[in-house]
Amino acid sequence: MQFENLLWEVKEDILLLTIHRPSKLNALNQSTMHEISTAFDAIYQNDSIKGVILTGSGEKAFVAGADISEFIGMDSSNAKSMAQRGHEVFFKIENCPKPVIAAVNGFALGGGCELAMACHIRLAAENARFGQPEVNLGIIPGYGGTQRLTQLVGKGKALELMMTADIIDAKEALLWGLVNHVLPLAELIPKALEMLSKIKQKAPIAIAQVIRSANASYADNGYDIEADAFAKSAATEDFSEGANAFLEKRKANFQGK
Ligand code: COA
Repeated sequence: MQFENLLWEVKEDILLLTIHRPSKLNALNQSTMHEISTAFDAIYQNDSIKGVILTGSGEKAFVAGADISEFIGMDSSNAKSMAQRGHEVFFKIENCPKPVIAAVNGFALGGGCELAMACHIRLAAENARFGQPEVNLGIIPGYGGTQRLTQLVGKGKALELMMTADIIDAKEALLWGLVNHVLPLAELIPKALEMLSKIKQKAPIAIAQVIRSANASYADNGYDIEADAFAKSAATEDFSEGANAFLEKRKANFQGK
């Protein structure tokens, strides 16, 4: 398939799907989100694809977040729709009946960390860095991060990461249970392929039902609350200040308004 911001490469029966906006560290603009959604529709339909590896273009970033330039001028109502659309796209990944492995090859910040967490398994290269730094911009994670991070690492660690906006390295992410394995960058894709070739030998319906059942263990009304909370944070002056400060390469001056 042909996309503007995604590379679609099938190796035997495994799809390597690469977020491809290297000049913006693969930041997720709306058109990329739309393409991810279209790609997953095709993955659901295409019987010859047995598993997916999701990675980022270049050696620096998996995905450095939602595209902050699209935040400018966003009001509370746009913000809520944005979060809800993001939830829909990432639910498609999480509920995909075929195994999806995130091969995290650098920064996975904000929406990038959320994208990795929507995948079933996370492999991290030694240079991977994780964080939910939205509070630096005066908003909160809006693509499922408040829910999935809490599910993966527990509430205490999740709140620490989301409130401090700290960036953790791959070793710490492994210690926290955020990633399954840490590998040298060159071994990342081979390891993902090895895992998928093991999984694809199992009964596909059983694999799909394992995914379905594991996902069912979490209540999902938290996502509605998150979309609402994201909209509330996006309605603040601090959010406008935070996003503009990033783009102007200066420190944000928050007023609590
Ligand atoms: N949205 C939009 N553009 C982004 C971006 C994002 N989330 N992250 C990086 N970029 C852009 C930069 O603006 C820059 O573009 P430019 O060359 O046109 O100025 C380019 O990608 C390279 O990023 P740069 O900041 O120069 O790289 P760096 O190596 O100095 O820093 C990061 C890397 C990841 C630490 C830094 O880019 C960053 O903090 N990004 C934002 C992370 C974030 O807050 N994500 C959550 C968003 S909700």
